[in-house]
Amino acid sequence: MDIRNKTIVVTGGGRGIGRAIALRLAQNGANIALFDLNETDLNETNALCAKYAIQARSYIVNVAHEGQVSDAMKRVTEDFGRLDGLVNNAGILRDNLLVKVKAGVVVGRMSMDEWNAVISVNLGGVFLCGREAAAHMIELGHGGVIVNISSISRVGHAGQSNYSAAKAGVQSLSVVWAQELARHKIRVGCIAPGYIHTEILDSMRPELFDKLTASVPVKRLGEPAEIAHAVLFILENNFFTGRCIEVDGGLRF
Ligand SMILES: NC(=O)c1ccc[n+]([C@@H]2O[C@H](COP(=O)([O-])OP(=O)(O)OC[C@H]3O[C@@H](n4cnc5c(N)ncnc54)[C@H](O)[C@@H]3O)[C@@H](O)[C@H]2O)c1
Repeated sequence: MDIRNKTIVVTGGGRGIGRAIALRLAQNGANIALFDLNETDLNETNALCAKYAIQARSYIVNVAHEGQVSDAMKRVTEDFGRLDGLVNNAGILRDNLLVKVKAGVVVGRMSMDEWNAVISVNLGGVFLCGREAAAHMIELGHGGVIVNISSISRVGHAGQSNYSAAKAGVQSLSVVWAQELARHKIRVGCIAPGYIHTEILDSMRPELFDKLTASVPVKRLGEPAEIAHAVLFILENNFFTGRCIEVDGGLRF
C-alpha cells in the first residue's frame, strides 16, 4: 500500500511506540487518527504529526470499551472520508507471579483484576479495534492493512501470565484475520518487539532494567522508531500477511 494520503488509526498513539509509529507514518504522508486515553499526550503527538503537513486528529478512546471503539472508528471514517490502516498498539502491563511463595508459604496470587485488565486492553482492545476497522474497510471497499503489536513475551515469560497470554492471542488473531480478510483485500501483520526504550518500562525496578539490557545480544534496548520502521514495512509490502516480525535485538526467552 502506498500510504500517502491514506488514513491510518494508531491506538495508544499518545506516547511511546505508538507516538513513534504515528510520526513515521505522518512523515511518509499518511493522515493519522490517534486513539488514546491520555488527552495531554494525544495533543502532543497530534501537534508533532501536524508538522508533516498531513491531517492528524485525536480521539479519546478506551480500546477495551466496545461502544467507545465503535463510535470512534465510525467518526474516523466520517472525519477523514476513508479508513485504510489500523495499528493496534495500545497496551498495558500488570506483572505478577501466578503464585508468590516465601519460605514455602503462599504469600500472593496474580489477582483477577490484574488478569482482566491486561486481557481486556491487550487482547480485547485488539479484537474490538480490529473488528470495527475491518467492518468499515469492507464497507468502504478499498481494502486495507491491520498491524497488531504483540511482544517477545508471547512465547511465555515468567511473571507475565496475563501479558504473555494476551500477546500470544494477538499473534493468533493476526493469522486468523489474514485468512478471513484476504478476500476483502485486507492484509494483517504482527510485530513482536523485544525490550524497547519507552515509559511502559518505567514500572520496572531499576535493577531489573540493567539486567534487561545485559540480556539482549546487541546489548541495548530497541528504539520506538525501530518498531515504527517494521510497521511501515508491513503497510507497504503487499505480499506480507498472516505473519509476525520479531524486532528484538536477537533476544529469545
Ligand atoms: N516497550 C516495550 O519494551 C515493549 C515490548 C514489547 C511489546 N510492547 C508493546 O508495544 C505497545 C506499546 O508499548 P509502549 O512501550 O509504547 O507503552 P506505553 O505505556 O509507553 O504507551 C502505551 C500507550 O497506550 C495507551 N493506552 C493504554 N491503555 C489504553 C486503553 N485502554 N485505551 C487506549 N489507549 C490506551 C497509553 O495511554 C499509552 O499512551 C504495547 O502493546 C506493548 O505491550 C512494548
